[in-house]
Amino acid sequence: MARILILGGNGFIGRNLSASLIESGHEIVCADRALPPQMDKVRFQKNIEYKIGDLSDSSFVHSLFYSEPYDWVIHLACSLIPSSNYSDFIRERELNITGGYELVQSMRNSGSKRLLFFSTGGAIYGNNGRELNDENSPLIPLNYYAYSKLLMEEFIRLEARLSDLEYIIVRPSNPYGSGQNLFGRQGLISVTLGKILSNEKPQIWGDGSVIRDYLHISDLNKGIQALINSGKANQTYNIGSGQGYSVNDVMQIIKNVTNNDFQIEYSEGRSVDVPVNILNITKLRNDTGFSPSVDLESGIATLWNEMRQS
Ligand SMILES: NC(=O)c1ccc[n+]([C@@H]2O[C@H](COP(=O)([O-])OP(=O)(O)OC[C@H]3O[C@@H](n4cnc5c(N)ncnc54)[C@H](O)[C@@H]3O)[C@@H](O)[C@H]2O)c1
Repeated sequence: MARILILGGNGFIGRNLSASLIESGHEIVCADRALPPQMDKVRFQKNIEYKIGDLSDSSFVHSLFYSEPYDWVIHLACSLIPSSNYSDFIRERELNITGGYELVQSMRNSGSKRLLFFSTGGAIYGNNGRELNDENSPLIPLNYYAYSKLLMEEFIRLEARLSDLEYIIVRPSNPYGSGQNLFGRQGLISVTLGKILSNEKPQIWGDGSVIRDYLHISDLNKGIQALINSGKANQTYNIGSGQGYSVNDVMQIIKNVTNNDFQIEYSEGRSVDVPVNILNITKLRNDTGFSPSVDLESGIATLWNEMRQS
């Protein structure tokens, strides 16, 4: 059993990952600026110790390490998404980039030495001209979100060179599943299902030809647990399905699953979207034995059924 601190543990990925780690017998301390929404309390609050505070508050961050050391610190806290603008980035710099630096410094001065950082596989490769990206592909961010992740990745690697900090950086593709915000600004699958539930037309940027790699949240949880158990250190991993689907493919699958031939509202494409991005997951597969098990159609069907029952 490991003792694990999850920063930003009350968001979409954090709540799912906490539940899955608890199920595997780990002890979870969850730090976030807010408690989980009421609807998630029953499912997610059991066996989790909550610490409420902001990553930008250095005394809060230091206080997280007064207790017994953690075997792992998982850093998820982030406020940016690919469409975030320059002022969002400046705010993020004060909150989560400087806060992330403080977090790593606090770890260096404590007995907690292993950090797992959530970067992005969906955005960090950016405009590098490749359709299938492995971890050594050039990093050419096209938005402030990806740039902020690149800054944090490089800082973590530097600190690992300067100290005995050990890291794993994960670059997830496009996770989807239970607990994702149905009415948010990101998450094509969840937001589209949310629109269908509220009888609104789903909106698509561009002509729907953009190809992405979608990963069910249960496979993301599985991949993270495989990494934690692997004994690997100071490594960066893509985590995705390794399969590409166009936005139009996804819409067709959603139509089939929901049995609803809905109309789509197409609007102008965004400069932050590259035409194709699929993750090569060979390194993760070879180092941990990980293999995704939920295909896109079943993952969407599971989510749709859960949504209709809640
Ligand atoms: N969801 C995706 O599609 C996706 C894809 C790739 C990578 N990621 C990365 O995974 C991580 C988690 O994503 P998510 O979808 O769960 O995001 P989310 O927005 O649902 O959750 C982020 C959590 O961090 C908390 N947080 C943000 N800033 C904070 C601060 N300054 N202090 C304390 N808490 C703070 C928020 O309250 C929230 O609970 C993020 O770093 C994100 O960039 C997400």
